[in-house]
Amino acid sequence: MRSIRKRWTICTISLLLIFYKTKEIARTEEHQETQLIGKNILRFLDAERDVSVVKSSFKPGDVIHYVLDRRRTLNISHDLHSLLPEVSPMKNRRFKTCAVVGNSGILLDSECGKEIDSHNFVIRCNLAPVVEFAADVGTKSDFITMNPSVVQRAFGGFRNESDREKFVHRLSMLNDSVLWIPAFMVKGGEKHVEWVNALILKNKLKVRTAYPSLRLIHAVRGYWLTNKVPIKRPSTGLLMYTLATRFCDEIHLYGFWPFPKDLNGKAVKYHYYDDLKYRYFSNASPHRMPLEFKTLNVLHNRGALKLTTGKCV
Ligand code: CTP
Repeated sequence: MRSIRKRWTICTISLLLIFYKTKEIARTEEHQETQLIGKNILRFLDAERDVSVVKSSFKPGDVIHYVLDRRRTLNISHDLHSLLPEVSPMKNRRFKTCAVVGNSGILLDSECGKEIDSHNFVIRCNLAPVVEFAADVGTKSDFITMNPSVVQRAFGGFRNESDREKFVHRLSMLNDSVLWIPAFMVKGGEKHVEWVNALILKNKLKVRTAYPSLRLIHAVRGYWLTNKVPIKRPSTGLLMYTLATRFCDEIHLYGFWPFPKDLNGKAVKYHYYDDLKYRYFSNASPHRMPLEFKTLNVLHNRGALKLTTGKCV
């Protein structure tokens, strides 16, 4: 009887060892895959450097050409110059696990909030609101992007004091996280960027501003084109994933679902937080989000990243 029990215990322990060993091997292979992609991306851009221009790149009064509209120019103002970081805000920063959170309505009822917040570094897009949606999206924001158009879209173009207060309150919640503003892409948002900069300075907000380098978007597009992904212009979500490969051992994506229905045919909002409609199927859209999604899904299947499109249990 005793020997049967002994054999049974040895058998169980051996099975457990095999299980954990297999898991470990799978995890090592996934890390190798992630590292390989990161290495290849490094041939096109160094996210540590390209994530932001630095103070020494410019002086106030310098005139630069917009990245995607070379005929038009922008003046580097005193406010903008004073908010440029001295060194890259991502210098020497490395994380075991990162979350990149897109803004799809697929996050609603996902209950992913806790899981998202459990990652070492959380990247979010376009100053998306979190508090009211905390159970599904979490609240941790270590790095958050803000297209200049967000001022108009979500903060009434700062037309009245309450819009400005709402904005200042949102930024003050970020503490010393990185606020990433693509200020040099296309003409049209310069006054919004100036207003944002002025509010940050006036209210002495702690947020760490970053303004992507002039070469970043072309380099990211170049990497994906070389890998046979013909994107017109990378979406913020794809840009963030591409940058994250430089800083993160493991990358988990949430809120990526550029489709009006889920796999059960249920309607999915474009954004989890507003009523913006789907635009990316029209030719006018600068992005090819369904193609980007397909690409990310291939990487998910190869174990290079983890794409969550359902509930977090
Ligand atoms: N996203 C997605 N599916 C959606 C909405 C967004 O996969 N239904 C991802 C995209 O990668 C997108 C990111 O989430 O770039 C952030 O969403 P959003 O703020 O809506 O980006 P857009 O303003 O639409 O596009 P961008 O900032 O990239 O110009």
